[in-house]
Amino acid sequence: MTEEIERYEFDVVVIGAGGAGLRAAIEARAQGKRTAIISKSLFGKAHTVMAEGGCAAAMGNVNPNDNWQVHYRDTMRGGKFLNNWRMAELHAKEAPDRVWELETYGALFDRTAEGKISQRNFGGHTYPRLAHVGDRTGLEMIRTLQQKVVSLQQEDYAETGDYEANIRVFHETTITEIFKDGGRIAGCFGYYRKTGGFVRFDAPAIVLATGGVGKSYQVTSNSWEYTGDGHALALRAGATLINMEFLQFHPTGMVWPPSVKGILVTESVRGDGGGAAQLRGRAVHVQLRPGRVPRAVRGDGGGGRPLVHRRDNNRRPPELLPRDEVARAINSEVKAGRGSPHGGVFLDIASRLSPEEIQKRLPSMYHQFKELADVDITKEPMEVGPTCHYVMGGVEVDPDSAMSKVPGLFAAGEVAGGMHGSNRLGGNSLSDLIVFGRRAGLGRPSTSTRSPACARRC
Ligand code: FUM
Repeated sequence: MTEEIERYEFDVVVIGAGGAGLRAAIEARAQGKRTAIISKSLFGKAHTVMAEGGCAAAMGNVNPNDNWQVHYRDTMRGGKFLNNWRMAELHAKEAPDRVWELETYGALFDRTAEGKISQRNFGGHTYPRLAHVGDRTGLEMIRTLQQKVVSLQQEDYAETGDYEANIRVFHETTITEIFKDGGRIAGCFGYYRKTGGFVRFDAPAIVLATGGVGKSYQVTSNSWEYTGDGHALALRAGATLINMEFLQFHPTGMVWPPSVKGILVTESVRGDGGGAAQLRGRAVHVQLRPGRVPRAVRGDGGGGRPLVHRRDNNRRPPELLPRDEVARAINSEVKAGRGSPHGGVFLDIASRLSPEEIQKRLPSMYHQFKELADVDITKEPMEVGPTCHYVMGGVEVDPDSAMSKVPGLFAAGEVAGGMHGSNRLGGNSLSDLIVFGRRAGLGRPSTSTRSPACARRC
């Protein structure tokens, strides 16, 4: 019996419809390419929304001392200098333009008193740097990028009478194989989740934007989609993966009740609380190890805790150290028997901000704890513990073009490796996906004469 296979031809197929995929598709369409967006899940249901606290970009709106060089240094330091330096450089330089561009697409970030895009503190960032929309920044970015796709489809309709003339979205479609012809990309094959029907796409360029692998862990902020599909597709197509040993455990996920264990508690709680004395085991501060962190970043961690809003002495309290440090410290507390009743530590914002301020700045967290755990975070502390959140490893790409070593195969966002070294700073994923999503969508073959591996070291 022969099974019918639906067949399509496109110039570019983008696999994944999170932030990186949508930004890549928008750019490919701008280059005049007929583009397919393939979404394994419902359109808009992407792990991008789990980057709640903000998008890191050195705009200097809250502290004018910030600039791309400081962002670059923080990113390299956070990644223990194992980052691809060129990716970190491009990211730090281009992130502000990409954020401003989102506003031209219709994003509305929270504002400072002067009407600039507001920026908040986050772990490992020297200055307040995260452009944000309350604690729903990733959601706003997905909404904005989807809206941009729809507006481009409307433009195409006005011109051609066909909404899908240049961008077509395939919902609930899983890609299982990428194929090549003469060593370069020729297309991919998959099936519709709803019907099981097979589908084939012929295309000379594929952008992988499939996100991470976090659902392979039991305690995770990731949802069911994050099963490393893009990593597997790339590997089977002949691309290389790097840094796959680097998994990020976000320090704060919910620990109770068991049905919601792992759900993210945004780092904004620590960022907005000014950082002082918020994370506690039963009786003591979480013991971070300041000796392992550069002085300029670490703050004094003692009784006279630093103010993170001071312009010229902007040292961080321990709670705002990079995620790997905080997660390890929490783990040690719990293992030493000083954890909270359900095996986490307490995170307190109630003593730092007024109830009105908490509901304004952290509306999702307020509702999440109220609905899921019957905890009122304007009055009581939250119980939190580490949860698998992000994989730093991924497809090895040329930093400038985002192309893997397979001609025609690009990767952007979480599925790409190298940018974040061994530990990603919070907020750097949303900026990563718009910077490198755009670069992948440009579809420029690598101009580098160096192999990706060489570009990483040289
Ligand atoms: O904590 C958070 O809001 C997560 C941000 C991120 O992963 O970048």
